[in-house]
Amino acid sequence: MLLYQPCSRPPQLLFHNNPPLSPPTPPLLRIRTTRLLHSRASRATRVAAAASSTSSTTAMEVGELKKGIAELYDQSSGVWEDIWGDHMHHGFYDPDETVSGSGADHRAAQIRMIQEALRFAGVPGGFKNLEMVISIYEFETFKDKFHISNTVQAGYWAAFFSYNVEVHLDTEDPDKRPKNVVDVGCGIGGSSRYLARKYGAKCVGITLSPIQADRANALAAAEGLAEKASFQVADALEQPFPDGQFDLVWSMESGEHMPDKRKFVTELARVAAPGATIIIVTWCHRDLGPSEKSLQPWEKEHLKKICNAYYLPEWCSTADYVQLLESLSLEDIKAADWSQYVAPFWPAVIRSALSWKGITSLLRSGLKTIRGALVMPLMIEGYKKDLIKFAIITCRKPE
Ligand SMILES: C[S@@+](CC[C@H](N)C(=O)[O-])C[C@H]1O[C@@H](n2cnc3c(N)ncnc32)[C@H](O)[C@@H]1O
Repeated sequence: MLLYQPCSRPPQLLFHNNPPLSPPTPPLLRIRTTRLLHSRASRATRVAAAASSTSSTTAMEVGELKKGIAELYDQSSGVWEDIWGDHMHHGFYDPDETVSGSGADHRAAQIRMIQEALRFAGVPGGFKNLEMVISIYEFETFKDKFHISNTVQAGYWAAFFSYNVEVHLDTEDPDKRPKNVVDVGCGIGGSSRYLARKYGAKCVGITLSPIQADRANALAAAEGLAEKASFQVADALEQPFPDGQFDLVWSMESGEHMPDKRKFVTELARVAAPGATIIIVTWCHRDLGPSEKSLQPWEKEHLKKICNAYYLPEWCSTADYVQLLESLSLEDIKAADWSQYVAPFWPAVIRSALSWKGITSLLRSGLKTIRGALVMPLMIEGYKKDLIKFAIITCRKPE
């Protein structure tokens, strides 16, 4: 059993309601590790099946899929950014957390997702004071928008100075911080800009959507990060990078789009430098039981509807990912089901889509985005029925 304690909330969460004086410490939480109960024979069959989600997918279908993904994100990224900001991924919440309807809380939960993923993988925390600089930047951006009072502002600055005292006590080894990061399936580059600021790392993001790549570059330039974060259109399954280039390989909610999971993880491992950390955060279907060969027909039907709207190929399980990583001799493989931590996310997305701004933006954005919005309840139902799993899988490339 793996014990996992999510980090305390990032300080930027706190000023929305109260001055950020002492972040609450969440209780110890237990997360199931992936249980690999299968026999060697059925393992081999499943790895092969997971590896070749393409076996039933022709080259033409792969081409159509990539085109559909590019168009979906070309159309929908502007709407998403308008309402949700930089990050196109789930937020991370405490299971017992009462989540307000505030968009700022959800954005903070999305940043927390990045922090929790780094922590789970054992990537060093980076400069805390740099993180505070981000918070200040975000605070400055948000404060006018949310009409934050002078008293709250004063509390915030007081907390900032007390927090900075802690920073000087931080003894972390700077050599262990990532220096070169690839952001595979980068969206509009939110993770890369965060990692560039946090670690001072050089980040390169790839996406299938030209509009996302342009927007990501524009945002990096606007935030003074053009030297640190750059973005291009490229396929994760044929990355335009030499072997062994990156010490952090980051894939935040892009794996579900990959039609060939073996090729996907093989590319992640290829571009990873010896000793690099690989982090995959992705949608999976539930692990199959020892006597099961495949999902139930109703489960397949449920996922098919989601696949059609979001341009996803066949899904695989967390156990399939673990087996693929094992087959590539990667080390320190860890996996967890984070479904309970993301539960408030889709209801919030639906609420935002039903707001006046959401409805008008959706109507302007095109059919693909509208189709995506219509299947959102299926995501919630899939989680509730234990069919859909929000998974994190991490490992290290041997030295
Ligand atoms: C849900 S978005 C996640 C974006 C980003 N990681 C984030 O957290 O904000 C999925 C991303 O995966 C990208 N993607 C999907 N298939 C891809 C592929 N074969 N090669 C490169 N990017 C891909 C999409 O273009 C999109 O940017």
